Amino acid sequence: MNSYEKPDFWSRKAFSEGYPARSVYKLQEIDEKFGMLKKGFRVLDLGAAPGSWTTFALRTLDGTGYVTSIDLNPLSKDVKSDFLTFIQGDMYDPEVRSKALSLGPYDSVICDAAPPTTGNRVVDTARSSGLVELAIYYAQEMLKPGGNFVVKIFQGGDQQSFLKSMRGIFTSARGFKPEACRNESFETYLVGINKK
Ligand SMILES: C[S@@+](CC[C@H](N)C(=O)[O-])C[C@H]1O[C@@H](n2cnc3c(N)ncnc32)[C@H](O)[C@@H]1O
Repeated sequence: MNSYEKPDFWSRKAFSEGYPARSVYKLQEIDEKFGMLKKGFRVLDLGAAPGSWTTFALRTLDGTGYVTSIDLNPLSKDVKSDFLTFIQGDMYDPEVRSKALSLGPYDSVICDAAPPTTGNRVVDTARSSGLVELAIYYAQEMLKPGGNFVVKIFQGGDQQSFLKSMRGIFTSARGFKPEACRNESFETYLVGINKK
C-alpha cells in the first residue's frame, strides 16, 4: 500500500491545507486534467457541503469570479467569502433551482452530490442516478456556451446513457476516476467539456 492508498492520507492532507474534506483532491485532479476552473469564472457547486470543492473554486478564482453553492446541509463555518452565495436546500426544489438560475449563467457546473447511502447497492445507485440526471438538467439550463461540467456517479448506474445524453450537450464527454477516489470506492465522475 503506498501513501496515497492509506485511508487517512487525503483527510490529513486536506486538514493541513485548510479544506474541510478530502474530496477536494478529486476536484483538483479533474481540474488539472480538464481545466474546469479558470480566473473570472462563475461556478455552480451542487452538493457542496462541507465545502472543500467550494473552497478550491474560491481559491482558484482568487477574487476574480463568483461561486454559487447548494446543499441540504450547511457549509463548514470557515467556508465564507464575499464571492460566494450559499443556498441551503434541496437540488430538487424548484425554488432552489430558480435561485441558482438567477445567479447564473455559469462557466462551470461541478456536482459532487451523493445520496445518503443505505448499504443497498441497487437503491444507492438508483438515487445517485437521480442526482446525476438532475445535475445534467442544471448544466443544460444554466451553463454558458463553452461551459464545463463534472458530476459524480455511483458505478453500475446509467453511466453509458448519461454519457450519451451529455454528448448531445457538450463537444466531448467521458468518464474519469481520480486517484483520490479510494480503490474500493464505487464512485466515479462524468465530465462534459465545451457546452455547445
Ligand atoms: C460527498 S458530499 C460533497 C462534498 C463536497 N464536494 C466537498 O468537497 O466538501 C455530498 C453532498 O451532497 C449533498 N446532497 C445530496 N443530495 C442532495 C440534494 N438533493 N440537494 C442538495 N444537496 C444534496 C449532501 O448533503 C452532501 O453534503
